Amino acid sequence: MSENKVIDESKQGEALMIEQPVQPNGKKLFLESYGCAMNFSDSEIVASILKDKGFTTTQDFFEADVIFVNTCAIREGAEQRVRQRLTEYKKAKKTNPDLIVGVLGCMAERLKSQFLEQEKLVDIVVGPDAYRSLPELIEIAETGQKAVNVLLSKEETYADIAPVRLGSNGVTAFISITRGCDNMCAFCVVPFTRGRERSRDPETIIREATELFEQGYREVTLLGQNVDSYLWTGGGLKKENPSAEELKDATTFAQLLEQVALINTDLRVRFSTSHPKDMGDEVLHTIAKYNNICSYIHLPVQSGNSRILEMMNRGYTREWYLGRIDAIRRIIPDAGISMDIITGFCSETEEEHQDTLSLMEAVKYDFGYMFAYSERPKTLAERKYPDDVPAEIKSRRLAEIVELQVKHSAERTKAGVGKVHRVLTEGVSKKSKEQLFGRNSQNTVVVFPKENFQKGDYVNVYVESCTGGTLIGKAIY
Ligand code: SAH
Ligand code: SF4
Ligand code: F3S
Repeated sequence: MSENKVIDESKQGEALMIEQPVQPNGKKLFLESYGCAMNFSDSEIVASILKDKGFTTTQDFFEADVIFVNTCAIREGAEQRVRQRLTEYKKAKKTNPDLIVGVLGCMAERLKSQFLEQEKLVDIVVGPDAYRSLPELIEIAETGQKAVNVLLSKEETYADIAPVRLGSNGVTAFISITRGCDNMCAFCVVPFTRGRERSRDPETIIREATELFEQGYREVTLLGQNVDSYLWTGGGLKKENPSAEELKDATTFAQLLEQVALINTDLRVRFSTSHPKDMGDEVLHTIAKYNNICSYIHLPVQSGNSRILEMMNRGYTREWYLGRIDAIRRIIPDAGISMDIITGFCSETEEEHQDTLSLMEAVKYDFGYMFAYSERPKTLAERKYPDDVPAEIKSRRLAEIVELQVKHSAERTKAGVGKVHRVLTEGVSKKSKEQLFGRNSQNTVVVFPKENFQKGDYVNVYVESCTGGTLIGKAIY
């Protein structure tokens, strides 16, 4: 995990390898993931499906029989990185002509068979809802044919599949609670790459979290593109207008959060991503009620200007968003808050950009993820609005926003000095073997001397100093 949260490394892409294979079939797999936590979580499902078929793994793609790249399509830059990798893998085919290369995830869904037909870069293309068919598709590819399955599903949640934890620290884990997204934000490709929103059976979520706790994990992050719209009415697919009868037996996100929190007070619960239009007070009260639900909310704003928000189809205004921030501060006074912001969306003026800066001043986020607008094919914005903010203006606005966030992150971190923080230890600090690191409830990284502590331990740390985004202290007893 990155210790620098202003620029999220998980959003830059990173390689992960499969561990602990069983029943070897003699074939080696190399799996690489890009994009958001949801994609990393999906790779753990893919690993599980292939492990059951006897695949072992390798960390060296030159000795792999099968290479899968789980891809992200959120911005053009993300796609370019993946293309570069695929070109490298194509070269690897020269030394191993039997090598099978597959594209999984959001680019697979967006570009479908283009990779096979026009670019001849890969042998297999599989979308996010079709991973159960991977073993079959590998068999087809082994006969020299190309294999594609990009069908999206209204029901698939992989609820019964026990993910193989990849690159795991043994302390923190992701659990997917919804798939897809029904929101249609004008800039966003996700509804096209991941299909309709559906919620996962809460029983299977609780079971997965309980098993993780029993295996020694101490933190779970519940994942969905919009966790607040989680609704289990028995059938999986979220009902548009559930009847009173269906709602009586339904599980809402607040109820799910509570059920996970009740598994054990030593199991921390996080969640991502909250949506300002759907995050009600009920969920905030649930967070406030349980100490083991972390006081941290990632609440993407995208823009501080109501005209831009309307064009983005976000479903809220600047005032509504600030009202939600007030509710968080009122109900969970110690909450850490972070955001996503897009600069230079279609027709954004200088004044509207200033509105984003002033909203940041009003909120003073603990950290944030900031991006220049990247037009994505098929989206509402691509069809309706010209991408008319010049690249250099987008990057200048982005630099201003990043600079302000760096300042706010430093201020917010500094406010933690001189206080005791309850830290869940995640591992050895990158900078020194003598130091451990973990996070406080607000998701800020805390570094402290190792002493006799181990990862997975809760440690009360008295914080004495800080750097930009990291708290530094020592354990108190
Ligand atoms: N479901 C989450 C966001 C998922 S995508 C939510 O609704 O908040 C993560 C972030 O990528 C978004 O919040 C947005 O800030 C950014 N993003 C999405 N599409 C983008 C685009 N076309 N250009 C630039 N940034 C984009
Ligand atoms: Fe994209 Fe909006 Fe859905 Fe988030 S809520 S995934 S930004 S469409
Ligand atoms: Fe990327 Fe798909 Fe996630 S587009 S951000 S991997 S949902």
